[in-house]
Amino acid sequence: MSLKDETQTHQTAGGDVVRKRSKRRRCGAHCKRFWWAYLIAFACVVVLVVCLVIFVGVPNIAQDKLNEAELDIQGVNILNTEPNKFLMEVNSTITTDGSIHADVDAFTGRMYLEDHEPHVAFATLDFPETSADKMQVVNISQEVTVADMDAFVRFNEWFVERETLRLTIEGETKVKPAGLDRKYGVTFKKTLDVKGLNLLKGTEVLVDSAELFLSVDDNNRNFYGEADIPNPSHFTLEVGNVAFHQYIGDEDLGHLFIEDLILYPGSNTVNVSANLNQPRVLALLRTTPDYCKDGIIPFKLLAENVTRDGNDIEYFAKGLAVANQTVDIDIGAIIKNNLGTTIECADEED
Ligand SMILES: *[C@@H]1O[C@H](CO)[C@@H](O)[C@H](O)[C@H]1NC(C)=O
Ligand SMILES: *[C@@H]1O[C@H](CO)[C@@H](O)[C@H](O)[C@H]1NC(C)=O
Ligand SMILES: *[C@@H]1O[C@H](CO)[C@@H](O)[C@H](O)[C@H]1NC(C)=O
Ligand SMILES: *[C@@H]1O[C@H](CO)[C@@H](O)[C@H](O)[C@H]1NC(C)=O
Ligand SMILES: *[C@@H]1O[C@H](CO)[C@@H](O)[C@H](O)[C@H]1NC(C)=O
Repeated sequence: MSLKDETQTHQTAGGDVVRKRSKRRRCGAHCKRFWWAYLIAFACVVVLVVCLVIFVGVPNIAQDKLNEAELDIQGVNILNTEPNKFLMEVNSTITTDGSIHADVDAFTGRMYLEDHEPHVAFATLDFPETSADKMQVVNISQEVTVADMDAFVRFNEWFVERETLRLTIEGETKVKPAGLDRKYGVTFKKTLDVKGLNLLKGTEVLVDSAELFLSVDDNNRNFYGEADIPNPSHFTLEVGNVAFHQYIGDEDLGHLFIEDLILYPGSNTVNVSANLNQPRVLALLRTTPDYCKDGIIPFKLLAENVTRDGNDIEYFAKGLAVANQTVDIDIGAIIKNNLGTTIECADEED
């Protein structure tokens, strides 16, 4: 019996039940005839879904996983500082939940201050190829050229002055999930809370080792001593030779020098020397009730220049000149130790 015959038979018979059955049969017949079309449609849907997963789903998952990954910095060294470049060493770890296995291509990360617009990178850092293992050590040692001096000076100013600052590292890279043959473009972007130098607050000039002379020596110095400088950041900085203005109030009373300054994280004991206008310091000590009471003078230090190997290191000089740093120096005790005299308060101010 042919299909056509059957259909005709039912049509002539009439009635709902028969008609329904006829439709179903008609459909069944249609399917049988056009099965290949359904197969193609089904295959197309499968291909579409797979494509969506591969081209949209996987890249999104890869990007999400990369966004969730944590970058932790254990230490940063800024060494061999030159006017336009430095050696940057970074010890860091990248932590993921380990749920996907993927290789992340090497990439160049742009570094900029998150909280300053526009986001101009002051330098770039090359990150090595990594895998998305749960925990990865990423140690980098690289000569970095300053990409934008204004941006780098600003970074140094913020770094010197602030307690914390936000540093962003951003770069385009590719991820290759394990088992897939394709690489997907993703963006690596991490914003780090970095501790700054907080203006080196807490710096002390140590009284016991301080030596004060009545006249200057061949180096044009009349003061030698040690200072304890706290560095609350995780950065080691090879700063160089620093010359500071030394103010009392608004009066410039000479210079303080620190040679070959390297600031390590934590406390740093360094040698300092100075060329002080001693007669004026003594006069201020005697005639200012606040100073002569306990012999302590709040000096203000402001960097004048920074040099290394005879070159000006402008970014550190400007960074350290962002604000005056007040250091209380027990000049009374230093004078007593060195000159054997106690400075009395003047009866009345001149
Ligand atoms: C990285 O770790 C090594 C080994 O502990 C250490 O020698 C180096 O100074 C560290 N570098 C930084 C930038 O913290
Ligand atoms: C990498 O940095 C870590 C963390 O500071 C350190 O323990 C490790 O020794 C370093 N490895 C190398 C090869 O420097
Ligand atoms: C530092 O203090 C001196 C003396 O009061 C003043 O002339 C100078 O402008 C101050 N510098 C900054 C950056 O505050
Ligand atoms: C400070 O100077 C003394 C004497 O010149 C020297 O022995 C010492 O090593 C110096 N300290 C530092 C931290 O440079
Ligand atoms: C840095 O400043 C000090 C103090 O004024 C000065 O003696 C020295 O020559 C300056 N160095 C440079 C390289 O300008």
